[in-house]
Amino acid sequence: MPAPTPASTPAPWWRDAVFYQVYVRSFADSDGDGLGDLPGITSRLRYLRDLGVDAVWITPFYPSPQHDAGYDVADYRDVDPRFGRLSDVDDLLTRAHRLGLRVVVDLVPNHTSSDHPWFRAALAARPGAAERARYLFRQGRGRRGDRPPNNWESVFGGPAWSRVEDGEWYLHLFDTSQPDLDWRNPEVPAMFDDVLRFWLDRGVDGFRVDVAHGLFKVASLRDQRGVTHGGDLPSDREDRAMVERTVRDEPMWDQPEVHEVYRSWRRLLEQYDGDRMAVAEAWTQTPESMARYVRRDELHQAFNFAWLLAPWSAEAFAEVVRGTLAAVAPVGAAPTWVLSNHDVVRHPTRYGGGPRGLARARAATLTMLALPGSAYLYQGEELGLEEVDVPPESRQDPYWFRTGKPGRDGARVPIPWRGSRPPYGFGPAGTTPWLPMPDDWAALTVGRQRKDPDSTWTFYRDALRARRRWATCGEVEIVEGRRTVLHLRRGDLTVVCNCGSRPVRLPAGEIVQASGPLHGDLLPPDTAVWLV
Ligand code: BGC
Repeated sequence: MPAPTPASTPAPWWRDAVFYQVYVRSFADSDGDGLGDLPGITSRLRYLRDLGVDAVWITPFYPSPQHDAGYDVADYRDVDPRFGRLSDVDDLLTRAHRLGLRVVVDLVPNHTSSDHPWFRAALAARPGAAERARYLFRQGRGRRGDRPPNNWESVFGGPAWSRVEDGEWYLHLFDTSQPDLDWRNPEVPAMFDDVLRFWLDRGVDGFRVDVAHGLFKVASLRDQRGVTHGGDLPSDREDRAMVERTVRDEPMWDQPEVHEVYRSWRRLLEQYDGDRMAVAEAWTQTPESMARYVRRDELHQAFNFAWLLAPWSAEAFAEVVRGTLAAVAPVGAAPTWVLSNHDVVRHPTRYGGGPRGLARARAATLTMLALPGSAYLYQGEELGLEEVDVPPESRQDPYWFRTGKPGRDGARVPIPWRGSRPPYGFGPAGTTPWLPMPDDWAALTVGRQRKDPDSTWTFYRDALRARRRWATCGEVEIVEGRRTVLHLRRGDLTVVCNCGSRPVRLPAGEIVQASGPLHGDLLPPDTAVWLV
């Protein structure tokens, strides 16, 4: 059931919900084609209910040539046959709602696929035609116009412009197959209003808004000043976890006009019953700019990537908590927290991998789950999965093809359900998963971990239960967060996370949840605990 709200403070369901991100391709494959699908998700909804999450966010399942795993949408109002049919969405929604789970779908408004009828029409039309004005087509620089219109780089590497046969260039902040829409053209917002209504009418509970900070570019499309690297998605294995924190000149991101779109979407969502919501994926540069997306008349939530970008450090975590709470307080929004998703290296690996990386990941998760607002989990983190070293010949991420760097496939490998060999119940026996699954995952399957009281799965289930009981109200007080120990209080709950290398004495109280074994009244390194 959605989180119960105390009668005295009626809060919408999403405000402190735990969301579980289902990466469609890699969750459950019902037909054995190697790709996960909607019937596969439906068949596993009970698993998510048992784990104890409140809502499911499903990544794009719309018709798409799949050049960016579905984030290149060719038709916003249908289902790719590889993932099912529209009736499968209806079945999924019915089943989820029956189980008390909410369902949020992905919306990709910054760009379409180059296979979208609008882009095909744009290519077939002449420079200056109305069909081109839905995208950002421009003349190139130089006497022959053979240089891109500006110096912007694609998030996936290389120039953000490609040239078409008649000599014009079009903007694609991601892959060449993802042309950016021109949100100053009224046809674009009108189309997305219809798309929102289409899915709301079918019964979805909300939307995750892809690249929410990208819709408007500075009108002049001027050069970016002081370019050192082009991307805002921290996509490279080595530097993903440590993105520069200095404020960069970003004429392609986070322009003020974007907020009017979210005001109008808020009004549209409010025409529906049931507290429908939207969460922005906005890689903004500061907590303050993130908070602008969740002003009272804009979107309900924005992903807060600050923790995900922080190193393993009590001081850094304390700063993230302080900075996030301070940023959202003036706009009255609840914060969100996330440690992993399909675009970043899985957090056990970011924290060093192996038993120590996993211990740290569990400790960070337990600490995060105590915080106010809502938390987003990424499929497979409840199994303690690490980033997989996908062999080069199997990689599919456009980032890999454009840069030669490993990219994000390592976080996207299908999850293991049962059995001792690939595909570990991800699909019927004999299925070849779209990314190869490691041979040594037998001990990590859902089947094995559900039977083991010390497994990461059991830890997640217990932590989610404990959260409902102990972590739903109260302000956060940071008792200590300067050296190696993060010590927080929230209502009756005390949270201690040991980021140092020596055990620390536990404060007084009864232990209600720990992220790993404790030694008497000592909290070992890389461990967190909740006490009341
Ligand atoms: C999604 C990515 C995708 C990109 C382009 C993102 O932020 O999460 O997976 O590649 O948008 O749509």
